[in-house]
Amino acid sequence: MTKHLIAPSILSADFARLGEDVAQVLASGADVVHFDVMDNHYVPNLTIGPMVCQALRDYGITAPIDVHLMVKPVDRLIPDFAKAGASIITFHPEASEHLDRTIQLIKDHGCQAGLVFNPATPLHYLDYVMDKLDVILLMSVNPGFGGQSFIPNTLDKTREVRKRIDASGRDIRLEIDGGVKVDNIREIAAAGADMFVAGSAIFNQPDYKAVIDQMRAELAQ
Ligand code: DX5
Ligand code: ZN
Repeated sequence: MTKHLIAPSILSADFARLGEDVAQVLASGADVVHFDVMDNHYVPNLTIGPMVCQALRDYGITAPIDVHLMVKPVDRLIPDFAKAGASIITFHPEASEHLDRTIQLIKDHGCQAGLVFNPATPLHYLDYVMDKLDVILLMSVNPGFGGQSFIPNTLDKTREVRKRIDASGRDIRLEIDGGVKVDNIREIAAAGADMFVAGSAIFNQPDYKAVIDQMRAELAQ
């Protein structure tokens, strides 16, 4: 399998000094910046938009930025995020009237495209779009807030998606988001995930490198 990617969610970062905090987590060994966009409509919380993504690029952040769009409607924001430096853009199928069109819009703007599944969202949305996806993101909490507990049946869903990805023969990342910690990352990887979002587990600790090192040690076992 390809390398495991650790993607700290900046939802739990210090927004008053975001550039510095993101630079620090990357210097501590993170691979990808997970950027949670919430609109107080699709999810009951409000966060950040393309201007903040651009500000991170202007600050000198060169790592991939994984923009997780929890917004409805979704299409209007895609060109703006692509322009602001997004590398990956993922969205929830319930937030798009035309799944295939939204995926194509992301790719036409030069970004990798991903579909996000809430804990109770069925996998049938994958049926006719697998050939276009770069990332499948399984939510292991209900979206909207950091610091929630991992929902255990996500592991069965992860195994099912891993089978589908392997059957497709395509190089699709399988990303898990919500409640990922040092003490469960190994079983999430064993179920087939290869990209791990962790917000509170990393940013709520004083030593980011110590947490990321512990996660890598778990993944190496
Ligand atoms: C939740 C967000 C997550 C969240 C993860 O809606 O999509 O990315 O920040 O936070 P933790 O790791 O604290 O569960
Ligand atoms: Zn997220």
